[in-house]
Amino acid sequence: MTTPRKTLRIAMNGVTGRMGYRQHLVRSILPLRDSGLVLEDGTRVAVEPILVGRNADRLADLAAQHGVEHWTTDTAAVIADPTVDVYFDAQVTSRRVEALTAAIKAGKHVYTEKPTAETLVEAVELARMAENAGIVAGVVHDKLYLPGLVKLRRLVDEGFFGRILSMRGEFGYWVFEGDGQAAQRPSWNYRAEDGGGITVDMFCHWNYVMEGLLGKVEAVTAKTVTHIPTRWDEAGKEYAATADDAAYGIFEIAGGVIAQINSSWAVRVHRDELVEFQIDGTHGSAVAGLRNCVGQQRAHTPKPVWNPDLPATEKFRDQWLDVPANAELDNGFKLQWEEYLRDVLAERPHRFGLLSAARGVQLAQLGLDSSARGVRLEVPEIVL
Ligand SMILES: NC(=O)c1ccc[n+]([C@@H]2O[C@H](COP(=O)([O-])OP(=O)(O)OC[C@H]3O[C@@H](n4cnc5c(N)ncnc54)[C@H](O)[C@@H]3O)[C@@H](O)[C@H]2O)c1
Repeated sequence: MTTPRKTLRIAMNGVTGRMGYRQHLVRSILPLRDSGLVLEDGTRVAVEPILVGRNADRLADLAAQHGVEHWTTDTAAVIADPTVDVYFDAQVTSRRVEALTAAIKAGKHVYTEKPTAETLVEAVELARMAENAGIVAGVVHDKLYLPGLVKLRRLVDEGFFGRILSMRGEFGYWVFEGDGQAAQRPSWNYRAEDGGGITVDMFCHWNYVMEGLLGKVEAVTAKTVTHIPTRWDEAGKEYAATADDAAYGIFEIAGGVIAQINSSWAVRVHRDELVEFQIDGTHGSAVAGLRNCVGQQRAHTPKPVWNPDLPATEKFRDQWLDVPANAELDNGFKLQWEEYLRDVLAERPHRFGLLSAARGVQLAQLGLDSSARGVRLEVPEIVL
C-alpha cells in the first residue's frame, strides 16, 4: 500500500438519521476510512469523518461504537474549520438550505442528500452559489448506481430496445400508520409543514432516473393525494398527516418517450422489488428493480390473444431472460461517494451537482402544482 497523499476530512451532519447512519456512514464512509480512497493512478487517500449533530450523547455513542475520533454539536465551528474539506448533509430536508448555504459561503465542497431544498427558488440559489464559489458540489443520485439500473442503462446504451416508447415505474410499500405497529419511516415524512410528502421525496429521484436513462423531462401531469389522513408518531401520539402519501405521475420525455410512475406509501407489494421500472421499445423490453433486471427481445415476444373466456395458459414471467451484472457492483451510495471524492481531489465538477438537484426539486414542485390545478405543466429549463 502506498502512503496516503493527503487526508480528506468530511464533516457529516445528520449521521444519527436513517440515511446518514446506515448508507452514508456505515456503508460508505467507514469502509472508505478503513480502506482509503483509491485514486485513478492507484494512490490512496485517507478519509476521516467528523460526526456532526444536535445530540452530544448520541454522537459520542456513535463515535465510540465505530472508533471515530472526532464529533461535534457545533455545526458553525466545523464549517469554519479550515482543515475540513467537505461538508455533507443528511439532516431533515427543512434544515438543509441553511446548512449548505453556510458551508458553501465558507468555501467547503458540499455533498448532500436530496432534495436540496423545499422550494425551487432556494434550490436554484444553492446551485448558483456553488457555481460562483467554484466548489465541487454533489447530490445523492443513488438509484443510478444500483445494479438493476446500471444494467438497464447498459441495455439503453447497447440499443437493445430499438426505439424506446415508454417507461413505467412502480414504487411503494405499506407504511404502517403507527398505532398498532410502529411506522417504519420517520413521522416528519407525513407532515407537509416539516418538509414531508412523497412527491417532494420521490420526484427528485425520478427526475434523475429519467434523465439518466432516457432524457430530459419536458412535461408533467400528476395527481397527488393523502390516502391516510391520520398517523401516529414516534411517541405514539396521533397527528394529522398533512403531506401527500401517494403521487401518480405522467412524464413526457424528450424524443416522445412517455413515462408513468406511481409512488405510494399506501400500497402492498406484489412485485419482486420495492421499486421496478419497465422500459418498452420496438425491439425489446426490460424490467429492472434495485438489483435485478430481465429482458425480452422482439424475437422472443409471445403473441397473446385477448380472450377473457379462457384461462391464461402462458407463464409470462418465465419468458424473460436475466441480464447479468458481469461485474461486482458495490453499494450504490458508496460508489457515488468514491466518484464524488475523486472529483473533489481532482477539482473537477461532479456529474450530479446542485443544478441537477434543482431540476429534481423543480419536478416535485411542478408535480404538486399540476395536481392542485388539475393541469399538465411543461418543465422550463433552469438557467443559472
Ligand atoms: N437517497 C435516498 O434514497 C433517501 C432516502 C430517504 C431519505 N433521504 C433524504 O435524507 C434526509 C434524511 O432522511 P432520513 O430518512 O434519514 O430522516 P431521519 O429523520 O432518520 O434523520 C434526520 C436527521 O436529521 C437530524 N435533524 C436535524 N434537525 C432536525 C430536526 N429539526 N428535526 C428532526 N431531525 C433533525 C436528525 O437528528 C437526524 O440525524 C432527508 O432529506 C431525505 O429526503 C434520501
